[in-house]
Amino acid sequence: MEFPFDINQLFSERVSILDHSLVAGRKSAGRPDLQAHIATVIDELGRASAKAQQLTAPITSASKLQSQRHQLYLLKDGESNGGRGMVVGFLKVGYKKLFLLDRQGVHIEAEPLCVLDFYIAENLQRHGYGLELFDFMLQHKNVEPVLMAYDRPSPKFLSFLAKHYCLTQSVPQVNNFVVFEGFFLNRAAAQ
Ligand code: ACO
Repeated sequence: MEFPFDINQLFSERVSILDHSLVAGRKSAGRPDLQAHIATVIDELGRASAKAQQLTAPITSASKLQSQRHQLYLLKDGESNGGRGMVVGFLKVGYKKLFLLDRQGVHIEAEPLCVLDFYIAENLQRHGYGLELFDFMLQHKNVEPVLMAYDRPSPKFLSFLAKHYCLTQSVPQVNNFVVFEGFFLNRAAAQ
């Protein structure tokens, strides 16, 4: 995704981690002009993700990020667009208190890290960028995919999780979250 401003000026790292402060590194701190551009990028990404998932409204926007305790990992390609860079996609995660059912149907209260939104630009999908972003997040959060919960995963995302992390056997839930076999087992061991 290209923007009429310099992406490399906004985001110095290949993967930037954004939170409620909408600050990406030292450069944008105390710079309302840069933060406005960051907000534009997030809003645009949120809209594109909603469209790709056929949602009626975006679940990611700058104002939502400012009011929630979520983290957004943003991947750029710094070399393209004549050296101004382009945005490749994003992954949004956050902790949620959930009531889940284990294999035996017993209610378990948990607060796992959840994938809340995930999007790679249309023309760049299936090139390994999603995996790069997801793996970055796993390392940064020091978490395993099986210990996470997934909010309304799309068919493409389910295929992604099966291919890269062998997550295929989900445990039926009564809410929109998907957890996989091993979530309850490994959670106990991880605590
Ligand atoms: N059809 C089916 N599977 C797909 C597709 C597709 N069009 N695109 C990616 N995948 C899955 C497949 O398993 C694929 O492997 P394959 O090509 O061997 O079949 C694998 O992902 C490829 O891995 P990456 O290249 O690392 O993934 P990508 O960069 O495409 O990112 C993502 C995956 C984020 C799901 C991307 O396809 C996308 O943005 N899709 C549209 C938006 C979306 O559905 N987001 C998930 C929302 S649900 C949530 O966030 C909780």
